[in-house]
Amino acid sequence: MCGICACLSKQNSVQLVVDGLKKLEYRGYDSAGISYLENNEIRTIKTVGEICHLEEKVNGLFANLVIGHTRWATHGAVEEKNAHPHLSMSNKISLVHNGIIENYKALKSELSTINFRSDTDSEVFVNLIDLEEGDLLQKFIHASKKVQGSFAVALISDKGDFVVGKRESPLYVAHLSDGGVMATSDVYVLNNLATNFFTLKDDEFAVLKENEISFYNKNGEKIHKKCEKMQKFDKISAIFEKTHMKSEILETKNVLKTTLENYFNQNIFENLNLPKKIKEINLIACGTAYHSALLGAEYFKRASIPAHVYVASEFRYGNEILNKNALYIFVSQSGETADTIACAKICKEKKMKCLALTNTPNCFLNQICKKVLPTFAGREIAVASTKAYSCQVFVLFLFSLYLKGEFYQLKNLLEEFVADFKFTDINDKLVDEVLTYKKIFFVGREEDYVTALEASLKLKEITYINCFAIASGELKHGTLALIDKNSLVIAICTQEKIKDKLISNLEEIEARGGKIMLVSNFDIRDENYLTLKLPNSFPLLMPIVSIIPLQFLALKSSEKLGYNPDKPRNLAKSVTVE
Ligand code: AGP
Ligand code: GLU
Repeated sequence: MCGICACLSKQNSVQLVVDGLKKLEYRGYDSAGISYLENNEIRTIKTVGEICHLEEKVNGLFANLVIGHTRWATHGAVEEKNAHPHLSMSNKISLVHNGIIENYKALKSELSTINFRSDTDSEVFVNLIDLEEGDLLQKFIHASKKVQGSFAVALISDKGDFVVGKRESPLYVAHLSDGGVMATSDVYVLNNLATNFFTLKDDEFAVLKENEISFYNKNGEKIHKKCEKMQKFDKISAIFEKTHMKSEILETKNVLKTTLENYFNQNIFENLNLPKKIKEINLIACGTAYHSALLGAEYFKRASIPAHVYVASEFRYGNEILNKNALYIFVSQSGETADTIACAKICKEKKMKCLALTNTPNCFLNQICKKVLPTFAGREIAVASTKAYSCQVFVLFLFSLYLKGEFYQLKNLLEEFVADFKFTDINDKLVDEVLTYKKIFFVGREEDYVTALEASLKLKEITYINCFAIASGELKHGTLALIDKNSLVIAICTQEKIKDKLISNLEEIEARGGKIMLVSNFDIRDENYLTLKLPNSFPLLMPIVSIIPLQFLALKSSEKLGYNPDKPRNLAKSVTVE
């Protein structure tokens, strides 16, 4: 996943790069480092841990040409020697890399003269580059033909050359408004620094000089590229709490309101110019976005449109038969998830109708799909997605109403939903009780099953508790064997028509000694149950209401266990490798 920021300017590029890396920390926070040029020598500073440690180490340093990296390890443990940048053995070239060199083992065994200083695939790449003939650009282009996999790379040489290039992983370059040039993994880094930017396509390269950026294709031929205008990015958060996650949950109501207003005021659905009749909808996403897609499919089916949902990493290598009459919706908060992007590329190449549902202006997924349904959740920093999920579900619901021809008719009701939206917290006593159980299961049916999936992902993601979700009707087909007195089953129940069925499933759990915690807006009294009462709202929008206390459950549990909920171990916010 890793984030890259590299800069050449008359100003202090060290500061610009470190500031950029801080904005990229959502890409990974295992370790960080910079290389800079001083008297024709490349110097490198690395630290394990978050950018703040690097910041302390580089305090007071001044340099004009700097490449920087924040790492999420794919190859090689989280140790200083594996942190980027990586120097070639001759110390003449330094590289930062986002991606995976899939054939690094084979290449490494061919480079028998090199004494490798790390366990990374990236170090193999920089040595491969250094051993090629020509100037830095030519060396890079030649070496790139030998590597398989994905890369966004920034290179500097001891002669002061600055070259970047990419395949699969995103990379952007720009002239800075105050002079100089920058290359980065995310356009957001350029916010307030540049007014235009260039997006590199696969196997495109750029040579950056202080006042000039030249682009090349994989044959080393100069190419012309058009710049794009920077779109305005929202402020990070309007609410300031101790953690980003808490601020972001508490922003849900505001961002739902903004989203609704923008959909009414900006004619977003009309501007998509979609065909009159959509015969089928296929949604493709990962993680939490996949969960919102599951709810979206339920909404589309209620609008009488057949809908299917796919996990992007399965879809991209599967044997799905594409349907020209279908609409393919790619759901992603970041718009830069590698698997989702790969699926969008496949569908676009096969000339399918594609639509991106994203939360990030200018993101790669938007550029591929061209047609975009934005969520207006504002920037989301915490790794665990909360407000963006709620906005995704909301937009999918609004879109289903639009396709059904009911969006404008229901304006008052939708406004009422947002105005009356109530946050349900979970009290500390209940959280403490939950934490006494060794096994935690989330169950529900239909929409509530999706909430169970999402609540379970939230809890495991930031507390490391081994929990999972199951459709309650499926329990007796195997999972019931796990239930005993150490088990807590958190049951979500918000849909009238399946209420009684769910209660029967809960009886079966109780009969096996399992403890039940009921999360419901219905008045179901059972003295043996732990209960979390939800406010009433529109039945189809209950998933947006019921996920809130379960997000708080994950957040509070994480804090009680002494973890940082914003930066869970082993994860990163954006998954730019497959
Ligand atoms: C959410 O809590 C997770 N961190 C993760 O599942 C995330 O939703 C997934 O990686 C997809 O990200 P995207 O929405 O940016 O594509
Ligand atoms: N493969 C490189 C490493 O492990 C880069 C990882 C990434 O981009 O996630 O250091």
